[in-house]
Amino acid sequence: MTLKIDGLILEDRPVILAPMDGYTNIPFRLIMKEMNPSLMFTEFVNSDAVIHENKKTINKIRILEEERPVAIQIFGHKPENMAEAAKIVEDLGPELIDINFGCPAPTVSGHGSGAALLKNLPLVAKICEKVVNAVKIPVSAKTRLGWDSSTINIFQTVKIFEESGIRMMTIHPRTKAQKFDGKSDWNYIREIKKSISIPLIGNGDIITPEDALEMFTLTGCDGIMIGREAVKNPWIFKQVRDFLTKGEYFSDIPVAERKRLCVKHFDLSIKYLGAYKGMLEMRKLYQNYFKSLPNIKYFKQKVFSCTDPEQIRAIIESVEEFTC
Ligand SMILES: Cc1cc2nc3c(=O)[nH]c(=O)nc-3n(C[C@H](O)[C@H](O)[C@H](O)COP(=O)(O)O)c2cc1C
Repeated sequence: MTLKIDGLILEDRPVILAPMDGYTNIPFRLIMKEMNPSLMFTEFVNSDAVIHENKKTINKIRILEEERPVAIQIFGHKPENMAEAAKIVEDLGPELIDINFGCPAPTVSGHGSGAALLKNLPLVAKICEKVVNAVKIPVSAKTRLGWDSSTINIFQTVKIFEESGIRMMTIHPRTKAQKFDGKSDWNYIREIKKSISIPLIGNGDIITPEDALEMFTLTGCDGIMIGREAVKNPWIFKQVRDFLTKGEYFSDIPVAERKRLCVKHFDLSIKYLGAYKGMLEMRKLYQNYFKSLPNIKYFKQKVFSCTDPEQIRAIIESVEEFTC
């Protein structure tokens, strides 16, 4: 069954790219798009920076036609500012606006936003209502279980989402205090699904296509979201879709395909981020493309010491020479 939220129609058992600050920029999303995710999230942006039309911030949430459908995520803690930012974001044309209620990073939760809002549910309600009323497109929310293990309040939070007009929610079932420690507890997703009527997206620790199927089967969630594994394995969305539809998937990605996608990612990074920033951005990513090769560190040494795009491309094309 498709998942329909106004004009946004997602295929049966949608598989969604998570918002990841520092990763889900345009080049990354265009690479993911080749693998056919059902929906992709931008990196999150600070609502106050959006209001001040900070150039770097607005650039982060630019959308290209060919990557649709896309959700733009905002964070903040002042309801009026969040609503104003949402209106500006709506003009950029996303299919969905998402509100972050889960970020544990001190730069966000330390300033009263993200997961810090889970300590003040009346403020969560106010933010949701203001944002929902400010825009015409659907608004979703993404959250964690609560601040820490002694204050888990996810069941109250999801009720607030529902009552304030949020149209879809994503749960990463860890507390703020856990950050990324331990395992996400998918049992919460199953129990939440029983208690709400709006679409629920399950997130957390989906590493393999088998995990993806298990998340659907165990929890009954309406969709799943993948974050870190999309960075580590850019083919994951195709593998998951193949497994969900055909019961099998290719797990060994040939070196030729790894090189092709890496060069494409490099070229897109140069095109959209500029030569210098694009080159630096790729340094975070090479190991994911070639981690299966032995002695990857020699390849990294070689490619990191080079600043000429043509030469870098040539080094990627001949990766085997540097990894044996
Ligand atoms: C580097 C990084 C950046 C992230 N940035 C965001 C963000 O901007 N907004 C957000 O809601 N979650 C963010 N997250 C959390 C992910 O969206 C996701 O909820 C989390 O990684 C769990 O999913 P996973 O196990 O599939 O990675 C980030 C996670 C990582 C690792």
